[in-house]
Amino acid sequence: MAKLTRKIGLSLAADICWPICYEAIMDRLKLNVDTGRDQIDFQVERVTIEPFPIKPMPKYDLVIDRLTHWYHVSREWIKKAIIMDDIYVFNNPWSIQSMEKHTSYSAMTQLGFPVPETWMIPPKEYEPSPDLEPTLTRYARMFNLPDIGKALGYPLYMKPYSGGGWVGVTRIENDDDFQKAYDESGKRVMNAQASVEPYDKFVRCVGLGPQVRFVTYDPSAPLHNRYTMEDDLSEADREILRDMTLVINAFFGWDFNSCESLERDGIWHPIDFANPCPDSQVTSLHYHFPWLISANIRWSVYCAATKKKMRPNLDWKPFFAVHKKYDTFHERLAGYVEIAHKRFETEKFEAFCEKHLSHLDEVTHEFFGSEDARKAVKAKVEAMYPEHEVDEFTDLFWERIQKWRSEEGAAR
Ligand SMILES: Nc1ncnc2c1ncn2[C@@H]1O[C@H](COP(=O)(O)OP(=O)(O)O)[C@@H](O)[C@H]1O
Ligand SMILES: [Mg+2]
Repeated sequence: MAKLTRKIGLSLAADICWPICYEAIMDRLKLNVDTGRDQIDFQVERVTIEPFPIKPMPKYDLVIDRLTHWYHVSREWIKKAIIMDDIYVFNNPWSIQSMEKHTSYSAMTQLGFPVPETWMIPPKEYEPSPDLEPTLTRYARMFNLPDIGKALGYPLYMKPYSGGGWVGVTRIENDDDFQKAYDESGKRVMNAQASVEPYDKFVRCVGLGPQVRFVTYDPSAPLHNRYTMEDDLSEADREILRDMTLVINAFFGWDFNSCESLERDGIWHPIDFANPCPDSQVTSLHYHFPWLISANIRWSVYCAATKKKMRPNLDWKPFFAVHKKYDTFHERLAGYVEIAHKRFETEKFEAFCEKHLSHLDEVTHEFFGSEDARKAVKAKVEAMYPEHEVDEFTDLFWERIQKWRSEEGAAR
């Protein structure tokens, strides 16, 4: 029996709280996974940024990445490491092109998901370039915003095609609003999307591998209250939301992503689901934060221990084959989900967790009652809030974590 060490790299940006908790719980778990063939322990390390040549330099078995969607050196390093060093990465860096909202809307509409009708609009202004003038003069056609408003109906939402974090999102009620928002949009390429309003429920589903958490979302609340602690979803709601999330994530190669859906008249409409590498901060997740850390540990340990193979290409054909084979969305979704479970190895993952991570819930529960956990929460609050609010908000997030401990942590 060989003694092996699997190295997990954390490729971090400004993250503070979650890596501290991830590292501390991994340390407390003292994992020694006996696969029957090997004895595996784990080492967690923060990935550094430095020059690198094109040659194999195996260092990590798995990397949890929070950087490559905007930091190009790390993106190239990760792509090289997948090609040359056979590592597994959350998330697939080749999916970055599909993070644009419009691509994700198109693909899921093509699979039959009830995505609200969406139009793309050429931008109001451009960065000058030598070919721009002849291109636009020859080919750009004049268009009339009120026609698009009429096609979509008011209210509608105008949002950047590759947006995130509500930047540049406007609710439009009439032709004048539409014109004004367009005039102010500058160089941004915008989507105009039919609204799902009024809606009955708004849920954000966080997916980590085959695990999904449902969080009822209140977009009108201040940041620290947007993820609510309410749970009024039926089993049927959960099933369809779980299935849609897993399909979206498997389709795009996103191990870690969040999907926003609104329910109106019994139908769940996904409106924003290209959020790979979503918010992981205790200051927004609070009550749900311990779930995120333990789900992350489960999926990363599983992938590293079993040397799960990265799927470098996105491979969409099987999903479209299912679409062709069936007639109703219900049947199709069942077919897509089967592919998602295969790609996420759900059954094997669950058996692995039962066998090797049965103490994780207890360790997580205990850790989130400790002084170390409180310090991690405070460190994040200190980085985000003015000094005179630090104690108040540290207490608030801490109390919510304690509520999680008494409601979920202990019972699991
Ligand atoms: N089609 C829609 N119907 C109703 N509300 C919407 C719609 N699109 C966006 N919104 C509202 O605007 C917010 C921001 O839009 P979203 O698409 O989530 O962009 P971002 O990527 O910036 O989060 C959503 O959380 C929701 O409250
Ligand atoms: Mg959103």
